[in-house]
Amino acid sequence: MTVDAVAVGAGQRGFFVYGAWALRHPHRLRFVAVADPDPNRRDRFADAHGIGPSRRFADPNDLFSRGRLAVAAVVASDDRSHVPVTVSALEAGYEVLTEKPAAPDLDGLVTLVRAARRASGHLHVAHVLRFTPFFLTLHRVVTSGMIGDVVTVEHRENVASWHMAHSFVRGNWSRAGEATPLIVQKACHDFDILTWNVPSPVTALSSMGSLFEFRPDRAPPEATPRCTDGCPVGDCPYDARRIYLDTDDTGWPHHVLGDDLSPAGRLAALRSGPYGRCVYRAGSDVVDHQVVTMQTAAGTTIALHVHGHSAEEARTMRYDGTRGTLRGFFGRRHELEVTLHRTGSVRRFPVHAGTGGHGGGDDGLIAAFVESAADGRPGPTDLSEIVESHFLAYLAEEARISGATIDVSARRERLEGALR
Ligand SMILES: NC(=O)c1ccc[n+]([C@@H]2O[C@H](COP(=O)([O-])OP(=O)(O)OC[C@H]3O[C@@H](n4cnc5c(N)ncnc54)[C@H](O)[C@@H]3O)[C@@H](O)[C@H]2O)c1
Repeated sequence: MTVDAVAVGAGQRGFFVYGAWALRHPHRLRFVAVADPDPNRRDRFADAHGIGPSRRFADPNDLFSRGRLAVAAVVASDDRSHVPVTVSALEAGYEVLTEKPAAPDLDGLVTLVRAARRASGHLHVAHVLRFTPFFLTLHRVVTSGMIGDVVTVEHRENVASWHMAHSFVRGNWSRAGEATPLIVQKACHDFDILTWNVPSPVTALSSMGSLFEFRPDRAPPEATPRCTDGCPVGDCPYDARRIYLDTDDTGWPHHVLGDDLSPAGRLAALRSGPYGRCVYRAGSDVVDHQVVTMQTAAGTTIALHVHGHSAEEARTMRYDGTRGTLRGFFGRRHELEVTLHRTGSVRRFPVHAGTGGHGGGDDGLIAAFVESAADGRPGPTDLSEIVESHFLAYLAEEARISGATIDVSARRERLEGALR
């Protein structure tokens, strides 16, 4: 059965991930309307999917005021628009897949959950990691009892330095007030994985972190406002000329520069657009390193590290249990092994890389959503799990700013009251 869908947001995720999947699987997903305020992106999407002029909308409200044009709605607009757009889609009766973070803050999350409870359709959130062969295997191993009871976890989200500079210093997510803080934007996925694998509820949480590097006072004195101004700093790892011009690659992140990806087009984008700015003076205000420590009701301790100074893009993790130690690496290579305390024997788990973006997570997520939407069923991540991953991320940011250790149990009770 082909599921008809409307798309809200036709940028990197909307066009290159969801749109591209539908074009590769025309018998499973078909987009029949699109909303995006950017006319080029709107038309690019509509042209690719054969959507006529009457189904191209600048404002998603105009799309939803038409009633239910399809079974499903995919919300891939920017972070701050997810709540109003998703609520409208739910009220119009769609099965909704919304990008993460589902809401930028707790008030938004409460609004969203209330709308989802009232709706006939279901709310799905793009927690792509859950659909990767790697994290599915990790979950299976941790919950199988092989390492015994989990005593302590270290989970690291090591964002590569060029990715940090692209997305969180020069790009869409460089200012928390316009998008969301790094710990919400990037790590709501990691909170989701941690609470999935360690189901005992978190009872206490604290956090530290700061913007260490991408500040004007860290700029080399001779650095120019743009890399393309002839910046003489030869050893800068963030030189936009090297990152965006010294390559024939026009995939992500290069295609984010603009529509003209010829060398001349990319150079013009660096000269005038956000991605050519000196990272030290780009005005970023999101942290580039943050540590969150948590304790669960069962007594397990968890340390989550998120930072943007990694030579290599990878999530790495270590779970120490009463019977064994698990170590994992999810990046260019996927590795998962358990060493048993009693025998010292090591078992390695074969994990295939998955196809497509996010280690197979994008393809897995969309396939699961389409299947659930076709039957009007909830997705694999239920509402309470969506609430928990986002709730902990907001508390982590609050704890970082206040310096306080948060009594999560008391705050959860308050949240449950607000959701009743
Ligand atoms: N699941 C993941 O792992 C993952 C990965 C990357 C990005 N994301 C999320 O996906 C979302 C989109 O990211 P992106 O990289 O595609 O950004 P993008 O800037 O490339 O695309 C966003 C698009 O939304 C449009 N838009 C803005 N406001 C809108 C509104 N009110 N209604 C309709 N369209 C609107 C913009 O014009 C733009 O075309 C973000 O929330 C981001 O956090 C999720």
